[in-house]
Amino acid sequence: MDRVLLEAGNIEAGYGPVTALRGVSLRLAAGEIVAVLGANGAGKSTLLKVLSGTLAPTRGEVRLEGEPIGSATPDRLVRRGLVHVPEGREVFPLLSVRDNLVAGAYLRDDADAVAADFERMYGYFPVLRERRAQPAGLLSGGEQQMLAIARALMARPRVLLLDEPSLGLSPALVKEIFAIVARINAEAGVGVLLVEQNAAQALATAVRGYVLELGRIVMEESSARLLANDDIREFYLGIKDRGVRGQRRWKRRKQWR
Ligand SMILES: Nc1ncnc2c1ncn2[C@@H]1O[C@H](COP(=O)(O)OP(=O)(O)O)[C@@H](O)[C@H]1O
Ligand SMILES: [Mg+2]
Repeated sequence: MDRVLLEAGNIEAGYGPVTALRGVSLRLAAGEIVAVLGANGAGKSTLLKVLSGTLAPTRGEVRLEGEPIGSATPDRLVRRGLVHVPEGREVFPLLSVRDNLVAGAYLRDDADAVAADFERMYGYFPVLRERRAQPAGLLSGGEQQMLAIARALMARPRVLLLDEPSLGLSPALVKEIFAIVARINAEAGVGVLLVEQNAAQALATAVRGYVLELGRIVMEESSARLLANDDIREFYLGIKDRGVRGQRRWKRRKQWR
């Protein structure tokens, strides 16, 4: 495997009495796009909060390029090359599109390269150029998602954590956004951890994936193998075409529960 960018070992985390992650381990190598699939409430957002320094784990360790993140704040981690695009986008609604991008570069002091990066972002997302003077709050949901990703990229991350970028968007927009994510990964070598309920699109974009259920990783496979897996097809892709063998396995699975 290529150089490991991000690694989580045996993470436990939660909110007071609520335990949301129960011993989660994963890794992301340089240049990879990796999906984390899971139903609502599985712990996906909690995992990204731990990986980005937003929530301290109660157990386990996160390493960024080999170094434990310890109690580093999200700011410190942005400096170290890791940026988190949280669920629900969270652009600055009153700032213009352009000023949102400026905000994404606030830790940088290489003004010329920052100027070039505005152009790069407008190249990825032409609609943001058209709307650069408008308040971000007036953008559509899809445009806000594009802006949230572009703002994150303005920090020049080596690791990008995306929390459900497809949420609430039309299939066409989802496709467009995932295509850009793939392009960013290919052109800039950014490692992407893609958290999604939209398994079909996520697995079409990622090279491999983890499946998170009730705070535990229950599967770790290449995207091709996950797409061919009966349980994944039924629960995450909504395809019910189990053969006889699949039905027997499903009965066994129900007995475990
Ligand atoms: N701020 C919070 N306070 C208490 N419980 C929370 C909070 N955020 C999430 N949870 C709980 O933690 C579990 C995992 O949530 P989350 O990580 O948001 O899942 P996902 O992103 O996969 O939908 C759920 O049971 C959820 O109810
Ligand atoms: Mg979530």
